[in-house]
Amino acid sequence: PKRITTRTLQKRRERGEKISMLTAYDFPTAKFLDEAGIDILLVGDTLAMVVGGHDTTLPATMDQMIYHSEMVGRAAERAMVVVDLPFPEGQLEIARSIAAGARVLKETKCHAVKLEGGAEQAPRIEAMVSAGIPVMAHVGLRPQNVHVEGGYRVQREQEKLIVDAKAAEDAGAFTVLIECVPESVAAAINDAISVPTIGIGAGRATTGQVLVTHDMIGMTAGYTPKFVRTYASVGETIRQAAESFRTSVEDGSFPGPDESFR
Ligand code: KIV
Ligand code: NA
Repeated sequence: PKRITTRTLQKRRERGEKISMLTAYDFPTAKFLDEAGIDILLVGDTLAMVVGGHDTTLPATMDQMIYHSEMVGRAAERAMVVVDLPFPEGQLEIARSIAAGARVLKETKCHAVKLEGGAEQAPRIEAMVSAGIPVMAHVGLRPQNVHVEGGYRVQREQEKLIVDAKAAEDAGAFTVLIECVPESVAAAINDAISVPTIGIGAGRATTGQVLVTHDMIGMTAGYTPKFVRTYASVGETIRQAAESFRTSVEDGSFPGPDESFR
């Protein structure tokens, strides 16, 4: 299959076509998502939460991101694969972000990185892009900022968010991800820039949509945000399969004659 690239995404926006993006953290899941025609796979630092069981994305390390990016990169034949820079790789000196992005491109088969922040990140985005590392910007709610913000909340400062998105675009970001803003604010941001936008909890006006796969397939324990649509109940399917296995072991019906060697 023909690979989705930064150019494909830009053409999608210009033609008024949509972009689908989901998180992926391992080889088999990434393979299924790629086969399903998802355009962008994100090795998100939500890894720390949905796979690692942490309360925030902050514990994700660069080595963990690389380990999971290797798996996802090996699986994706068509999708573009984007990797989050984990805290604080995108906050320390710019040279360190370039080194982290270079690890992604050298050590995995992934194609780009995502960086939280807007206007204050413009010099970093510019330096990374000129070093050859495609950058997806991430504005609005920034999960790595949770302790400064005092929680996760909808971001409503339209003028500031437009400045952030424009600065990211001007610095060379190939796409701007917009998290948890009112639909009207996302629409205004989308109108203010000409690179593709990808929304999560940002309504209908963005070029694309992203969700955390584990949320979308019903495999997250606990709280599900308002903006999530649950398309499957994989957690329940796993529980039922495990119960059936346990029952068949306990009553002696597994393994049967056909599942045993003679
Ligand atoms: O880490 C992640 O999964 C993300 C998405 C929520 C956009 O950044
Ligand atoms: Na993230």
